[in-house]
Amino acid sequence: MNKVDLSVKIAGIDFKNPLIMASGTYGFGKEYSEYVDLNELGGISVKGLTLKERKGNPPPRIAETPAGILNSVGLQNPGVDAFIKDDLPFLKQYKTKIIANIAGNTIEEYCEMAEILGSSEIDAIELNVSCPNVKAGCLAFGTTPKGIEEITSNVKKYCKQPLIVKLTPNVSDIKSIAMAAEAAGADCISLINTILGLAIDIHKKRPILANNFGGMSGPAVKPIALRMVYEAAQAVKIPVIGMGGISTSDDAIEFLLAGASAVMVGTANFVNPLCPIEIKEGIEQYLKRYNYNSIYDIIGKLELN
Ligand SMILES: Cc1cc2nc3c(=O)[nH]c(=O)nc-3n(C[C@H](O)[C@H](O)[C@H](O)COP(=O)(O)O)c2cc1C
Repeated sequence: MNKVDLSVKIAGIDFKNPLIMASGTYGFGKEYSEYVDLNELGGISVKGLTLKERKGNPPPRIAETPAGILNSVGLQNPGVDAFIKDDLPFLKQYKTKIIANIAGNTIEEYCEMAEILGSSEIDAIELNVSCPNVKAGCLAFGTTPKGIEEITSNVKKYCKQPLIVKLTPNVSDIKSIAMAAEAAGADCISLINTILGLAIDIHKKRPILANNFGGMSGPAVKPIALRMVYEAAQAVKIPVIGMGGISTSDDAIEFLLAGASAVMVGTANFVNPLCPIEIKEGIEQYLKRYNYNSIYDIIGKLELN
């Protein structure tokens, strides 16, 4: 059997494999470390950080749907300083790349966080301009090329680490948004964040989520995510990290073929914490089956009919 190389370099960062845990679904790694050897993962994007601690939205914050979940967690997190002091040392024990996902209400807040993180040991910053679950800001920056351009170019000035801009699917033309992020200096883009949704309790005649609307994720969103990742990858030269509904190695391979250089796994971790390891092994088997030596042999190799 041929030996295959799963490593991939993105924005100057060497990931040992293309499996990165999606922000908000992996906390700060602690709980999962009881089940998974975090050394096996390519990277972890931590729970979305804000300048100050946030308690998040009131419950219920999760509603199950037939093939996914609707969430409105509302960026519950300890704040960027507490993350650096209390959570980062734990994560740095492992040989995996750490991505700090940040969210703010104003451009200044994003810039301040990027500056603070600049002197920490994180490997990259992921700009969350696509969270549908907080009232002010965040998603607002991500829905127009002008908004993306403004926030990306400003935050970039404060970044010491590579900047990944995470795009929302709640737009009509993802290509123009991706191109705006690239033009403004993003080193990489990741997509998709959750799709805005609603679930109703028919007996109470009220939304199930206390915050009314939420973000949809899980297997149901995969075809939409895949289409958007393909379109974005066609539109830009910088690397793309794909996510949305990945739960098997076949899913991950689809994203790689569509043009993603790496994938993020989110909701599937709630169902099966071992799925990133299974996905990694499945990708390896696929490469061996077709006599490929490296993950690069399949990235962007989709041919349209
Ligand atoms: C409970 C939950 C919390 C999330 N929190 C964040 C977050 O803090 N920041 C962020 O950029 N994305 C967040 N996301 C979005 C995921 O990172 C991912 O983009 C999305 O869920 C699609 O991937 P999936 O279908 O594999 O879950 C969250 C998703 C879920 C389900």
